[in-house]
Amino acid sequence: MSKPNIILTGFMATGKTTVGRLLAQRLGYDFVDTDELIEARSGQSIAEIFREKGEAAFRGMEAAIARELAEQEGLVISTGGRLMLDAANAAALSKRGRVFCLVATPEEIVARVADDTGVRRPLLEVPNPIERVVELLQEREEDYGRYPQMVTSDKIPEEVSHVLSGIIQADPDLRLPIIAPSVQYEYIVGGGVLPFVTQLAGIDGPVAVITDSNVGPLYAQSCGPVAVVITVPPGGQHKTLETVQSIYEQLLESDVDRSGTIIALGGAVITELAGFVAATYMRGVNCVQCPTSLLAMVDTSIGGKAGVDLPQGKNLIGAFKQPKAVITDVATLQSLPAREFAGGMAEVIKHSLIADTDLLEKIENGNWRRESGALPPPLSDLQTLVARAIQVKINIVQEDPFEQGRRTVLNLGHTFAHAIELVSGDTIRHGEAVAMGLMAAANLSARLGCCSAALQDRIESVLVASALPARIPGNMSPDRLLEAMHSDKKKTAG
Ligand SMILES: NC(=O)c1ccc[n+]([C@@H]2O[C@H](COP(=O)([O-])OP(=O)(O)OC[C@H]3O[C@@H](n4cnc5c(N)ncnc54)[C@H](O)[C@@H]3O)[C@@H](O)[C@H]2O)c1
Repeated sequence: MSKPNIILTGFMATGKTTVGRLLAQRLGYDFVDTDELIEARSGQSIAEIFREKGEAAFRGMEAAIARELAEQEGLVISTGGRLMLDAANAAALSKRGRVFCLVATPEEIVARVADDTGVRRPLLEVPNPIERVVELLQEREEDYGRYPQMVTSDKIPEEVSHVLSGIIQADPDLRLPIIAPSVQYEYIVGGGVLPFVTQLAGIDGPVAVITDSNVGPLYAQSCGPVAVVITVPPGGQHKTLETVQSIYEQLLESDVDRSGTIIALGGAVITELAGFVAATYMRGVNCVQCPTSLLAMVDTSIGGKAGVDLPQGKNLIGAFKQPKAVITDVATLQSLPAREFAGGMAEVIKHSLIADTDLLEKIENGNWRRESGALPPPLSDLQTLVARAIQVKINIVQEDPFEQGRRTVLNLGHTFAHAIELVSGDTIRHGEAVAMGLMAAANLSARLGCCSAALQDRIESVLVASALPARIPGNMSPDRLLEAMHSDKKKTAG
């Protein structure tokens, strides 16, 4: 079937009808609201049907409609709040359709119902409606929890339909095999794949999610039922042995044993921190990387580098820990702050310059700027961008797993970048320093007669168009930069 139905379920006032209508327009599907269809066919309002024919008759009408719609295709179906709680309806509609559950906070549900003066909601005509909503949500938790959840609180319906259409249009099954020394695993990239992480990665046994306090509240729940969610403060300054110790303690308290799996859910800091915990806890447990920043998606999530910093220097303690799988959900990029997104674009551009001219053209022809308030690029475009960028790294790492030759090209611009980060006292972000480093490398290369003026211009334009700085700040002392480059650990022969 070419256009499987999209079914929206969820509690009342979570936006099913409004979002469904917009989604149908975006996808070029027809829209059906089951309550509206029942009212149109019976010539009665739902309240009248309940009053005159009783609830059982109404549920019978719902069941007949579920069976009928399940035979069609190309529909976005907004279902009445209880329709999918019936096992037969749920089985019929989900057999050939994709179901999403819209969710909102109890406070927002009650506020939306209060605004919606035209519709009666007898269920909530009680002295404390918020308490009632919480109760009902708890009763239905298991049923709604079966489906990927889409939070609609604090979002306009256009934004929710945009995200959903991206998830639906993205290739659900883009898998890039990675063959590392002595292991083979998959890098899976999709839109909305996080709720399927356990199945996709083949996890059994207890699961511990390690995340930070920006990412955890947004996505930890999407990973399904887990033994424990361990949340650390965000930022590289917490990539320390002290944090690692507190994580070990929480794993022990939660009875995570050697059969356990760690899901690393976050940016590059979490990739490395959680990878290190997985490498060392009980002499090593499985680790699944779920990168949520663009930088982690296209760079740090593969290669297996794991570690922490010491007061004496960065990454002084570490290990190589190859993950069981990398599951990259580009839908998480929707919430990544614009500046962090731009920083990740520096690594994407770097990979395009190293080995993928088509990717460079795609970046040049697209709009990848994420000014605040603007809708992010469609998920299918993000999926392609991430997959192409990571493929460059995969090819190179596989060719040179022990960093003895070709792999050094992945350091393009990084000798400058590390010096810039160091001299700036880390006020310049890694991705921004990489952008400046790429430009500096191109300029040096041009002086040595290796890079054309046209390519220099092209690199500057693509960096600037991606909201990245291309020039080293004028107040940064060249002598200090040179001194910092002299301490680069990649230095050879003076
Ligand atoms: N070892 C290596 O190979 C290597 C390579 C590149 C970068 N790095 C390091 O990685 C760090 C930068 O990477 P990063 O930007 O991924 O770091 P990060 O993990 O600190 O993430 C950046 C910020 O974005 C937040 N965030 C991440 N995903 C989010 C999402 N989906 N929604 C909302 N917020 C989200 C995080 O909480 C954090 O505040 C630097 O410390 C850099 O030195 C290491």
